[in-house]
Amino acid sequence: MPSKGLSSPVVAIVGATGAVGVELLHCLEQRRFPLSELKLFASARSAGKSLEFRGVSLPVRELNESSFDGVGIALFCAGGSISKRFAPAAMRSGAIVVDNSSAFRMDAGVPLVIPEINADAIDTHAGIIANPNCSAIMSITPLWPIYCTNKIRRLIISTYQAASGAGAAAMEELRDSTRAYLEGRSFEPKVFPHPYAFNVFSHDTKIDPMTGYNEEETKVRNETRKIFGDLDLAVAATCVRVPVLRAHCAAVNFECARPIAAAEVREILSHAPGVRLVDDAERNYFPMPVDASGGDEILVGRIRQDLSDPSGRSIALFAAGDQLRKGAALNAVQIAERLLS
Ligand SMILES: NC(=O)c1ccc[n+]([C@@H]2O[C@H](COP(=O)([O-])OP(=O)(O)OC[C@H]3O[C@@H](n4cnc5c(N)ncnc54)[C@H](OP(=O)(O)O)[C@@H]3O)[C@@H](O)[C@H]2O)c1
Repeated sequence: MPSKGLSSPVVAIVGATGAVGVELLHCLEQRRFPLSELKLFASARSAGKSLEFRGVSLPVRELNESSFDGVGIALFCAGGSISKRFAPAAMRSGAIVVDNSSAFRMDAGVPLVIPEINADAIDTHAGIIANPNCSAIMSITPLWPIYCTNKIRRLIISTYQAASGAGAAAMEELRDSTRAYLEGRSFEPKVFPHPYAFNVFSHDTKIDPMTGYNEEETKVRNETRKIFGDLDLAVAATCVRVPVLRAHCAAVNFECARPIAAAEVREILSHAPGVRLVDDAERNYFPMPVDASGGDEILVGRIRQDLSDPSGRSIALFAAGDQLRKGAALNAVQIAERLLS
């Protein structure tokens, strides 16, 4: 596929008006992505709107099959059904698709990429590169440099997921329901199945009756194994929504092949790409969504021995990251950058 020679491509964003789409515009601008033109697409509802990019107001157009003429890289963030329907049209036009949805992630021929972990997989693409699930990106990016020095064999991830992970309408629902709660008004949820303000509930995806795990938890497990290239890695996740506007958190416990000390993990993570240590026990200052929001790095702290494993091979830590950035838009732009080289 034409991954080489893309020196200054025409870039399209499909789903430009959504939570991830808007963040893609920011990332492309902030990272000075060398594009020759940016085309913005969304549904018919948004046709006629405009979005600002590099000080210029760009029109948002309704997506159709011929939207991809001349496009070199198409960044999809409009949901799985739109990706399934329109990614083939983009590829037929010669565009390389970087897809934020889950539509193609587990397809054998589609690389699933976190550039800090498996950037080389990008070179194997056949027209589509998938961006992993946001909770997976947040939780496992910091683990890779540890895995490389002392293989992780078992991983338990508990997420605390923000409204932004479910898109712009979910963020609005958190704002509106919080206002209603504080003003003593009733509020009928539209996006989520449960009241969101001042509440915590299990992730709003379907539960597989065979396993008891919901779709988000299953994605975290399957995608982690694909990205690490390790189908023997034991992974279990519990994914939960918390009433935070933006930035997911994750409590992670992992067991290595050999004993490992918290100090060693801290040392490895102090120079891990895409990661920032926030681990100040004296001030009780650890990763928080307010510090992660709007940032590119995954904050990691509370690094300590997992005392439930007397063999000394297990560590517990806590991470926070803006999943609209590293969990979606930034990761996609990093992949696109690699397509230029
Ligand atoms: N939010 C996250 O943190 C995150 C992280 C990783 C991956 N993702 C994935 O990224 C995708 C987008 O998520 P989001 O959170 O940005 O959702 P969102 O805020 O709901 O945005 C959805 C976008 O899709 C567009 N769209 C809807 N129907 C369309 C159609 N028929 N044709 C063209 N465009 C259409 C919407 O346009 P209108 O404004 O015109 O309706 C909007 O721009 C999803 O697949 C999601 O799973 C999200």
